Amino acid sequence: MSSVQAPGPVWVLGAGLVGTYLGGRLALAGCQVHFIGRRSFGETLAAHGLTLTDLDGFQGRLDTVSWHTTLPAEGEPALVLLCVKSADTAGAARQLAERLKGGSRVLSFQNGVDNMGTLRANAPELIAVAGMVPFNVSQPAPGRLHQGTSGALLADNDASLQAWQGVFSRAGLPLHLRDDMAAVQWAKLLLNLNNPINALSGLPLREQLLDRDWRACTAALMEEALAVLDRAGQSLARLTPLPPAALPTLLRTHNWLFRRAAARMLRIDAQARSSMADDVARGRVPEIDALCGAVVRLGRRVGVATPRNALMVSAFLSTERPQRSAQAWRRTLESALS
Ligand SMILES: NC(=O)c1ccc[n+]([C@@H]2O[C@H](COP(=O)([O-])OP(=O)(O)OC[C@H]3O[C@@H](n4cnc5c(N)ncnc54)[C@H](OP(=O)(O)O)[C@@H]3O)[C@@H](O)[C@H]2O)c1
Repeated sequence: MSSVQAPGPVWVLGAGLVGTYLGGRLALAGCQVHFIGRRSFGETLAAHGLTLTDLDGFQGRLDTVSWHTTLPAEGEPALVLLCVKSADTAGAARQLAERLKGGSRVLSFQNGVDNMGTLRANAPELIAVAGMVPFNVSQPAPGRLHQGTSGALLADNDASLQAWQGVFSRAGLPLHLRDDMAAVQWAKLLLNLNNPINALSGLPLREQLLDRDWRACTAALMEEALAVLDRAGQSLARLTPLPPAALPTLLRTHNWLFRRAAARMLRIDAQARSSMADDVARGRVPEIDALCGAVVRLGRRVGVATPRNALMVSAFLSTERPQRSAQAWRRTLESALS
């Protein structure tokens, strides 16, 4: 049975783009939300307030938020939203394990397929619940977070989350519970294989997706991942109108056909970029290991070669990346990914 009354406070650990957007929407809907993030972002929000917008015209504003740079010493959360990047999961899990009572629920809204294992290994007494954010969040101006694409949040069909569904819905964040979150996470990872290509292109997502040659680079990564997943017997949830196996063909198709067939995929704000592109722009290590790296690791386990995804991992970790132009990358990719 869903309710519109939040069962208790929400803590957002890793309040960056996604965490602050989700927590902000919940706070606007009346939830008590504590944000745990970096001092610099807290100062930005203190100076500018938090404005939340979405592509359907939603606009909400919080003049102040409850910001912490470490886990609050007082109180207990009814739900923790874990929103750090994958490389920070182990550290965040250890912090939670030290502070929270056994049995506390931690809902991960991270991309990638390994975070549940990392969370459980580092915080075995807590209950780790897998979630998935299908949309993109960017910061077009200080303190303004914008949801640039659409879709419902997905999470494990954990009994405790039923009490939160009404709350998320009232916050404008429909939450659907599923029994196949591993298949959801792998299907999301498949879509996220466009992130490194988007970052290397230097283009906004929509413009990059409307370029057939860049799309072919993404298709090449997906084909390799699909071969690995097929050999591993890993099923994929259908997150798009077309089944996952048809995505490479769709991406390789002519622009006129792609525009028609992928109308929903193209419902993106003109300026939206992948979060990996933001990381690259900010000089941060991108989440490449959690995406292409996961394909390479599974490929190794099941005996399928993954040179294309391996190329992406090495490209993003190489010191050459910032020096090379998008066109130089495209030439490398076209010859390596063909
Ligand atoms: N952005 C999107 O559009 C989007 C969409 C769907 C899913 N996702 C996924 O959501 C997750 C978060 O992405 P994001 O774009 O929101 O990342 P983000 O903006 O980098 O937010 C994470 C924030 O958490 C901070 N942090 C890391 N460890 C912390 C700790 N122990 N305590 C407090 N703060 C900590 C990070 O600080 P530092 O900067 O110092 O590392 C960063 O400010 C990723 O797995 C991503 O793939 C993102």
